[in-house]
Amino acid sequence: MQKNRKIKRFEWKDITEVMQIEREAFEKDRWDEIEFMKWHEMFPNGFLVAEDHNNKIIGYIICDREGYIHSIAVKRTEQRKGIGKALIEEETNIINTDEFYLHVRASNKNAIRFYEKLGFQKTQIFSGIYADGEDALHMKLQIRK
Ligand SMILES: CC(C)(COP(=O)(O)OP(=O)(O)OC[C@H]1O[C@@H](n2cnc3c(N)ncnc32)[C@H](O)[C@@H]1OP(=O)(O)O)[C@@H](O)C(=O)NCCC(=O)NCCS
Repeated sequence: MQKNRKIKRFEWKDITEVMQIEREAFEKDRWDEIEFMKWHEMFPNGFLVAEDHNNKIIGYIICDREGYIHSIAVKRTEQRKGIGKALIEEETNIINTDEFYLHVRASNKNAIRFYEKLGFQKTQIFSGIYADGEDALHMKLQIRK
């Protein structure tokens, strides 16, 4: 990630920009504002955003205190610039666990490649757990601190 970008904790004033990223990133499983509010109230330390040099939000991540990554998305025009990687690395710095987990739609090949590149390994397949019947891959990252 370039030096003129920064990662900070989400603040409620960021919600409009986060929602724009959400709408662009996800066709299915898209969260509404209530869902973001819920996660923010539950564990504000784990809800991070990446900003560009104009203080525009270009990505977000939500992780809980057990190291479960519930969502991550980067603005389409800013993808493949190291922002997603930087968001996950920041979570590994601030959350006190040596294991991180997530689940991802089996068809989301780009995200699966991204997670694998960061060292996540496929651990399990959950058959048909999405509302439309699609399978989820469960993936795990072991951190050596
Ligand atoms: C998945 C996502 C968060 C990755 O964010 P990103 O900022 O583009 O990722 P990075 O630039 O940090 O990528 C790091 C590495 O992961 C791999 N990678 C990332 N995106 C990839 C893609 N589309 N295809 C193949 N490899 C990819 C690459 O090896 C990349 O390094 P490189 O660009 O030097 O080759 C982003 O593509 C996104 O928002 N997707 C839509 C939302 C989504 O699917 N979220 C996950 C839901 S489970």
